[in-house]
Amino acid sequence: MGVKHVCIALIISFLFSSKYCSAIENITASQELSQGQTLISPGEIFELGFFSPNNSGNHKYVGLWYKGISPQTVVWVANRESPLAVTDARASLRIGNDGNMELVDGNQSFVWSTNVRVPSNSSVATLSDNGNFVLQDGMSGEKLWQSFEHPGDTFLPGSLLGVNVKTGQKYVMSSWKSDSDPTLGKFTVGISTTLRPAQLFIWNGSTPHWRSGPWARLKFIGMPEVNSSYQKSSFALVEDVEKGTFFLSYESYNSSILSRTFISSEGVAKKMLMENANTWYVDWMSPKSPCDVYGACGPSGICNASESPICKCLKGFVPKSNEEWSKGNWLQGCTRQIELLCEKNTSNPTSQGEKKDGFQKFSNMKLPDFHEYVYAPNNIDSCQTWCLDNCSCRACAYVYGIGCLIWSEGLVDIQEFAVGGEDIFLRLAHEELDEGQKNTKIIIILTTVSSVFVLTALLWTFLHRWRAKQKTEKKQTRGTFHIIQESDSLRSTLNYTQQQEPSELPIFDFNSILVATDNFSVQNKLGQGGFGSVYKGKLKDGTEIAVKRLSSSSGQGMEEFKNEMILISKLQHRNLVKLLGRCIEEEEKLLIYEFMPNKSLDNFIFDERRKAQLDWATRFNIINGVARGLVYLHRDSSLRIIHRDLKVSNILLDENMNPKISDFGLARIFQGTIDVENTRRIVGTLGYMSPEYALRGIFSEKSDVFSFGVLLLEIVSGRKNTSFNYDEQHQSLISYAWQLWSECRPLDMMDKAFEYSYPLSQAMRCIHVGLLCVQDHVIDRPTMPDAVFMLTKETDLPRPKQPLFTFQTLSAREIQQHSESKCSTNEATISILQGR
Ligand SMILES: *[C@@H]1O[C@H](CO)[C@@H](O)[C@H](O)[C@H]1NC(C)=O
Ligand SMILES: *[C@@H]1O[C@H](CO)[C@@H](O)[C@H](O)[C@H]1NC(C)=O
Ligand SMILES: *[C@@H]1O[C@H](CO)[C@@H](O)[C@H](O)[C@H]1NC(C)=O
Ligand SMILES: *[C@@H]1O[C@H](CO)[C@@H](O)[C@H](O)[C@H]1NC(C)=O
Ligand SMILES: *[C@@H]1O[C@H](CO)[C@@H](O)[C@H](O)[C@H]1NC(C)=O
Ligand SMILES: *[C@@H]1O[C@H](CO)[C@@H](O)[C@H](O)[C@H]1NC(C)=O
Ligand SMILES: *[C@@H]1O[C@H](CO)[C@@H](O)[C@H](O)[C@H]1NC(C)=O
Ligand SMILES: *[C@@H]1O[C@H](CO)[C@@H](O)[C@H](O)[C@H]1NC(C)=O
Ligand SMILES: *[C@@H]1O[C@H](CO)[C@@H](O)[C@H](O)[C@H]1NC(C)=O
Ligand SMILES: *[C@@H]1O[C@H](CO)[C@@H](O)[C@H](O)[C@H]1NC(C)=O
Repeated sequence: MGVKHVCIALIISFLFSSKYCSAIENITASQELSQGQTLISPGEIFELGFFSPNNSGNHKYVGLWYKGISPQTVVWVANRESPLAVTDARASLRIGNDGNMELVDGNQSFVWSTNVRVPSNSSVATLSDNGNFVLQDGMSGEKLWQSFEHPGDTFLPGSLLGVNVKTGQKYVMSSWKSDSDPTLGKFTVGISTTLRPAQLFIWNGSTPHWRSGPWARLKFIGMPEVNSSYQKSSFALVEDVEKGTFFLSYESYNSSILSRTFISSEGVAKKMLMENANTWYVDWMSPKSPCDVYGACGPSGICNASESPICKCLKGFVPKSNEEWSKGNWLQGCTRQIELLCEKNTSNPTSQGEKKDGFQKFSNMKLPDFHEYVYAPNNIDSCQTWCLDNCSCRACAYVYGIGCLIWSEGLVDIQEFAVGGEDIFLRLAHEELDEGQKNTKIIIILTTVSSVFVLTALLWTFLHRWRAKQKTEKKQTRGTFHIIQESDSLRSTLNYTQQQEPSELPIFDFNSILVATDNFSVQNKLGQGGFGSVYKGKLKDGTEIAVKRLSSSSGQGMEEFKNEMILISKLQHRNLVKLLGRCIEEEEKLLIYEFMPNKSLDNFIFDERRKAQLDWATRFNIINGVARGLVYLHRDSSLRIIHRDLKVSNILLDENMNPKISDFGLARIFQGTIDVENTRRIVGTLGYMSPEYALRGIFSEKSDVFSFGVLLLEIVSGRKNTSFNYDEQHQSLISYAWQLWSECRPLDMMDKAFEYSYPLSQAMRCIHVGLLCVQDHVIDRPTMPDAVFMLTKETDLPRPKQPLFTFQTLSAREIQQHSESKCSTNEATISILQGR
């Protein structure tokens, strides 16, 4: 008897529990989610269903939480603003008649809906293992709506936080009202793009509560603790210039570590991790100290969390109100003690003869808000010069990864960090400076020296111009000077270069070059460079040189000749070929370079016999050298330059097999942070051209990154990107590399000449970086500084996506559809004039 009862009870309880805990895989028109049911992701990581926060209160919500983790960690809630009654047992989440997902209460009235346009009523809602709840069209599979685009208080790897500046759409996360009330709270987290570079903010209502500082390519500079060495997972701000989006991406490098970031109801952002032990721990949080709170010390106040009181005025400033300040009400901030010279009424006799304003340096700083980016090449000196010239500039800083930032009055939210942070230079009246006396002396000496220098230079330039003019006039009378027509867009990019004649470049005598090259004899011909033949020569003193001679027939070459001459004479880097001088005499136009005994890289890696001379260490050194040369061009030179024709034959090797980038005939200067140029004339080399350039004529520094990726893959494999034929399985080296990569055997592509002697991890890393560089989308490619970092440091790398673009998909027909094409002979440098 007893046993029977127990059995029945068991069966009942089994039925009961299976009814109440049944799991479903998706929600469709015929399968709704009702009370007691949950939707579980395929890998059983996330679970979606009805819940009541902390099992208390009388409200019920539809939410998403980690399956099997206790206490229940809710990461997303559907009906935050319209809870269900906890007693409502008949509410359900279903696909409505219009195909939207909707939540209805027990009386079948509408509580919440995805509210999007849906093509049919066959939609399906599924939950994926990364925590994304997606409504898809049942026919096309198109994503119609997803919870990742509508974050709650939690940011998961993959969800979207940011802004689309073109549509104005914002993706923000917002806190709960309290730990057990998912209603919208006071705090929101989002990206602000009012200043560039953009910053991450926590807002309290509409006032800033915390600020990350501007994004500097690898980190937010106001978050020094979350830097690139921060490995378990990290944030990055990714901009898509074309779409106008700025998204914070958040990656978890190790899939066995769960990671989530949320904004608490008290306004603290916390990044939580969970490893093996079933508990969450705080990995990072902010604001952590009172100093982290936005503007804690008011304008011109500086916060140091390890001091008491935490607030001080910046040097040269005093509290606006001593009374308030001493009470600990710092928000009014500080005011300047001694007026700046540049602000004074200079016609006032007392201020005449006073000493100039100077800079006081502060280190380890969180830089203030309201920065402004100005273009000042190279270093802090040019940034300071800019600042001193403009009285409204009150402070400046040169930040690696951004450049020159300046600030006007009202320096808000400055903090001194224990480690990390940036240097800031604050403009102060001369009397306030620490070492005023010494500084002025230096300034006086510097100004004297520099004015003498400038005068000399001016005089020299003038004389030189005069001489050059005489020469040109002579030529024009003979009528042999080419006048070049450029398209408008090219002219604008060239403008800057053409104003600046490289007067400092030594001039060689034509006869001495004739002697050196034995009348440009065929024996001395080294090869064909972008716009002319290259000859070997030996000067009287024994110096070996390489001479590039502009072929007199082409007008196009003249433009490239000038471009190369002007650009390269201003560049100096170990990994760039060095220009020794020029020679322009009547119809002869020559550029003279240092001689590279080992010629170009293609002579080795594509030559079956010489391949083996370049062992792995040498090739790796070449890859890194080229990468550093490009970093110099893109970021570190006084001009910022896009090479545009990077290829194996343009990499020269010196006697020690060190690489030097050559051929700047197509290079362009770009300015500022917006580094996209659009040109109607497409020039470059098949196989190295990025998709956006080949198809739409858009070039940026990322086009060079693409070419670098191709170059890298060619160097490690010893095969040309263009050596694949249609009948082979692969259209290009890129698709071949991708296939091997996706089959987890990337090393199969390594050059057989290595005979398997190379460090596996280094080789894998090279291929990985190569694939990242040849991604179809600009946004997925690293910048050159990032690529150098990835190549040399043992960091985790993002996963590449399949590159679909190959130059051969761009068939000749397609090019000709909207262009008139003329391909020069063997090296297949193509030059396309897109007609409009
Ligand atoms: C929904 O889940 C069921 C199993 O519960 C499965 O048979 C069906 O194929 C799924 N439908 C879609 C569209 O995924
Ligand atoms: C869904 O669409 C089908 C065919 O398009 C139609 O027969 C059916 O009535 C629709 N269902 C609802 C609930 O609207
Ligand atoms: C349904 O409607 C009745 C009558 O209007 C109301 O008393 C009840 O509270 C409603 N139930 C729910 C779950 O909204
Ligand atoms: C949730 O419940 C636990 C124990 O049941 C309690 O310790 C905790 O304070 C509660 N949290 C909230 C926000 O009510
Ligand atoms: C948020 O702002 C309100 C007033 O706007 C203020 O009272 C409150 O202290 C602020 N909260 C925090 C955490 O700073
Ligand atoms: C990164 O931050 C850690 C502290 O979180 C610090 O010890 C380390 O020096 C930083 N590294 C760099 C490169 O800034
Ligand atoms: C991932 O994290 C787990 C747990 O901390 C650790 O045991 C494992 O080694 C990590 N894997 C990698 C590839 O770092
Ligand atoms: C900030 O605090 C640190 C640690 O106490 C100290 O070394 C540093 O000098 C302080 N900075 C200022 C500006 O007071
Ligand atoms: C500057 O000073 C001169 C002489 O003291 C005075 O006449 C003039 O009004 C002042 N200008 C301004 C703008 O204050
Ligand atoms: C001086 O700086 C201010 C603030 O950055 C700027 O608005 C103004 O245009 C600058 N003036 C000049 C002449 O550059």
